[in-house]
Amino acid sequence: MHTVLIDDHFAAWRAASLKALNQGLTPEAIEWRVKQTPESPQTQALFDYSEVSDVAPSPTRGVQVSKELAALLRDAALFRDPQRWAFLYKVLWRWQQDDRTVASPADADGARLNRMAKSVRRAQHDMIAYVRFRRQTAAAAHAPEYIAWYEPEHDVLGWAAEHFAQRMGRSTWMIATPHGAAFWDGSQLHLEQRRALPGEQHGKAVDDAEALWLAYYRSTFNPARLNEAALEQHMPVRFWKGLPEGQLIPAMISEAKSGARRVAQAGGVGALSGKSIPIEAEFAQPARDPPSSLESCRRCELWRHATQAVGSSGPRDARIVLIGEQPGDQEDLAGQPFVGPAGQLLEVAIARAGLSRTQLYLTNAVKHFKWEPRGKRRLHKTPGQQEIAACGYWLERELLAVRPVVIVALGATALNALLQRKVSLRDYTGAPFEVAGAWAIATWHPSFALRQQSDAARDKLLEEISTALMGARRLAEESVASSARTRHEYPEN
Ligand code: URA
Repeated sequence: MHTVLIDDHFAAWRAASLKALNQGLTPEAIEWRVKQTPESPQTQALFDYSEVSDVAPSPTRGVQVSKELAALLRDAALFRDPQRWAFLYKVLWRWQQDDRTVASPADADGARLNRMAKSVRRAQHDMIAYVRFRRQTAAAAHAPEYIAWYEPEHDVLGWAAEHFAQRMGRSTWMIATPHGAAFWDGSQLHLEQRRALPGEQHGKAVDDAEALWLAYYRSTFNPARLNEAALEQHMPVRFWKGLPEGQLIPAMISEAKSGARRVAQAGGVGALSGKSIPIEAEFAQPARDPPSSLESCRRCELWRHATQAVGSSGPRDARIVLIGEQPGDQEDLAGQPFVGPAGQLLEVAIARAGLSRTQLYLTNAVKHFKWEPRGKRRLHKTPGQQEIAACGYWLERELLAVRPVVIVALGATALNALLQRKVSLRDYTGAPFEVAGAWAIATWHPSFALRQQSDAARDKLLEEISTALMGARRLAEESVASSARTRHEYPEN
């Protein structure tokens, strides 16, 4: 009997299995053992490389498995069962013996493998749906800004942590589970595995944040919109015990049913009398310290889900400034404005207007990418008036520094940012107007042209954008000519 000692993760098992297969070891000939992780508080990285003992090192040859089997093995490896490694080796061994039925649900091993993978996939889905991050109010230096406690059914922490790391931008967070923790420090994921201490609770920090979360959840609950069936469908009752808000839900439902809440908001708000007063977006912003750099800007919440702030490109003494809406997916990754499809179309319009991108100062009304997930894609979301107003802080500084002759607003968001109020783009296209000592020209955003269904409609808009840019060029040239005349008439000594 050979003892194979591995770390408790898929990569370690795979490496050890390849060696064992290469040596022709049958499933019955191997006893799979998992290295004991050290007792807490020491921790051990989850994904370091495997070691195999008792199996003599040998050059390994790969094993060809179907894509389906590879996915089943990878997912079933997260199934919490001490026998999983031995079982997965048996599957791989049978496959290697050309026994393809092992991947079929009609086979006893195949059925077990499929059940394991299915259960893991459900656990992955549940973890994504039911992890609740709570913001730490008084976090110590280097402590994560958000923390979550979750008890996954299988070893899906690493998988879910990758998912959140891709979606939560630069906020730092930690997910603690009874079996380990994941930390995201804003740029890197750290996974640690540990054993739960007997009777150990999930820590004071989580408890502190829990009160905050409960208060928040209570305030967002809308009894007028209560749909109990949908609530239970989306958040099955068996998860309520694990969710901090779970303890609130039954009481809130019964209060809502008995009509205890007067209006469609939390009780406190509903009880307020008086009329509502409209308030400018700018004044609705919470008071915050001015940020020292664009990168550190927290004037609105968009930074949380963006890769980085995207500033401007082009010369600081440009005569023409082009303002777009906000960075798109590609700009967010590259950190440069107008490098994606809209940027390419804009370059065509710029060239048609007899200009070059290198002459122009390009920036956006909003400097962080606002998006919503759609499958694996990040879909652009139009920024709201509050975000435009918050980011106006930067635009204003840019315009003061560059002091352009002409500002071209590409689309309604840019125009709203420039005029600092919501207006209709159509009312401003066609003729230049003055804003704070500069000429301004409003035209379509190139993305709007890209969204047109027909080539003809797209070309028409492209033509209008380049006509607007031509107008900007003419105004800038006239200003050069008149300032040359001025210099000639009044030479500076
Ligand atoms: N759209 C914009 O408005 N700006 C960019 O930088 C890219 C796309």
